[in-house]
Amino acid sequence: MCGIVGFVGESHAKERIVDGLKRLEYRGYDSAGIALPIGGKIQIRKHVGEIRNLEQIIADDNFDAPMGIGHTRWATHGAPSDVNAHPHGNQDDSIAIVHNGIIENYQEIREWLAREYGVQFKSETDSEVIAHLISIYYDGDLLSAVNKAVEDMRGAYAVCAIAADEPDRIVAVRKDAPLVAGIGRGCNFIASDIPALLKYVREVYFIENNETVVLTRDDITIYNEKGNRVNREVFHVSWDADAAEKEGYDHFMIKEIHEQPKGIRETLLRRVDEEGRINLDGIAMTREGLESFNKVYIVACGTAYHAGLVGKSVIERLAKIPVEVDVASEFRYRDPFVDENTLFIAISQSGETLDTLAALREAKAKGARILSVVNVVGSSVARESDDVFYTWAGPEIAVASTKAYTTQLICMYLIALYMGQTKGVLLQKEYDRILNELRALPEKVEKILTQEEQLAFLAKKYHHKEHVFFIGRGLDCGVSYEGSLKLKEISYIHSFAIAAGELKHGTIALMDPDALVVALATQDSLYEKMVSNIVEVTARGARVIGLAKDGRNEIEQIADEAVYIPECADEVTPVLTVIPLQIFAYYVAKERGCNIDKPKNLAKSVTVE
Ligand code: AGP
Repeated sequence: MCGIVGFVGESHAKERIVDGLKRLEYRGYDSAGIALPIGGKIQIRKHVGEIRNLEQIIADDNFDAPMGIGHTRWATHGAPSDVNAHPHGNQDDSIAIVHNGIIENYQEIREWLAREYGVQFKSETDSEVIAHLISIYYDGDLLSAVNKAVEDMRGAYAVCAIAADEPDRIVAVRKDAPLVAGIGRGCNFIASDIPALLKYVREVYFIENNETVVLTRDDITIYNEKGNRVNREVFHVSWDADAAEKEGYDHFMIKEIHEQPKGIRETLLRRVDEEGRINLDGIAMTREGLESFNKVYIVACGTAYHAGLVGKSVIERLAKIPVEVDVASEFRYRDPFVDENTLFIAISQSGETLDTLAALREAKAKGARILSVVNVVGSSVARESDDVFYTWAGPEIAVASTKAYTTQLICMYLIALYMGQTKGVLLQKEYDRILNELRALPEKVEKILTQEEQLAFLAKKYHHKEHVFFIGRGLDCGVSYEGSLKLKEISYIHSFAIAAGELKHGTIALMDPDALVVALATQDSLYEKMVSNIVEVTARGARVIGLAKDGRNEIEQIADEAVYIPECADEVTPVLTVIPLQIFAYYVAKERGCNIDKPKNLAKSVTVE
């Protein structure tokens, strides 16, 4: 996800655009840039790092302009760097663009432009092709050139384009990436999202898919894909800027919980072609290479570690290879058996967790092959790995990780399926069955999200509890650890996860009427045993929230509360089971008046040991 901003008015374009970009940093912040038409040319200034770095480099520029475009980046193709930052220009910077989205056929376009037009690319990005496409079609009419360029492009895009020869207009176009136009007095704006506009305007037009917009100082003209003008209703924004960054949600955490269907779709579907073949972003694993691994470690911290617990089960089950999971801070101190026949998988949302980085470096020094599953492109873990498999969750702002976790799980499944098929140990029908189950997940997550009100009610009912136990068996056990961490880190309740089968070995001594137990019973093969565990703890006075698949209604007879997930194969339940736990934790913390997005004592990325 990136943030784009455009302004056309009398003057002060630089200030207006930077103001807008600052309000879009939640959409990405690894680099930023601005393009202004000055003296018949376009001046492009861009810099890696946060927007304040850009502000510093343009502060000395005594130029101003009546219009311009700007961008704050969340890298997908091409690590964060000055040259990969937007805006991107054509060969002589007479055209400049900013882009949010992914041009899926950018490689093909790059090769064609280089071959047919001798274009020399400056960056590694997919977006730069847009500037050159517009350039080859440009004959003095920017709108016509943009319309021709998008005909060559496949993927998702919101693009703003300017031309040195037309310093009074911005042409923008959108497909599957948001774009909104702001109606000013003597000036107009265009941006990825409303927060960028609110300092200056309250009246906006939402731009729909396949529409093109021409913005001048006095006019905003919207065209549909047939080139006909569209009369769009004005929308009055009543939100304040802070609420608008959260798109109307009260906190980033609940917004990110609701972004999970999209994150799962992005992470899954862009890697699986129509024939069901999985592409691990070009990571080449041969059968011989995989068979040379006699050990796989998954090493991570916190939520990422919990994703590794599920990853262990699915890789062992589908790829028939032994996997050890370790918390990074312990891995380093147990003198692990690591050599050139070891595959070391690091999981990290931020890619900057020092414990994980240190463990990675130790394994690398001992000859292991390093594969990392990371959400931040170009982060330290990504840069120091041999192979990187990105989660495409988009920026995760809340300290409590939610959409990163479910997209990490998707990456675990894809790696396991790919390995199992490459090694020839996974039957095609099994492969197809699991893949189809994964494809069905986004809609099932959306169905669970409609239970938000019920979960908020349970949170209200139980938010005063001071001791909460999460129990489960099999895959539910790993998810119970994640559910417990979600609750404790944002509500400050003492919560505790334990394998349900372990209860009788000591912990059941703690069961009493003050205890609340969240019992995960989604594994068909272990359901009866979980029923017994629920009966054991209720017999000692504990209150129980039971979580099961749709149709397992008998759980309502034995537990105090029942929460259901849609029917699915046991193997993929973790992606669904965690959703009610995230929502429950969120509303408990809300009832307790906690600082949900920035819990006490915590940081989004723990860069200390
Ligand atoms: C999870 O909600 C916490 N924010 C924390 O446990 C986190 O998962 C852990 O610090 C690892 O962070 P990483 O994924 O960025 O490496």
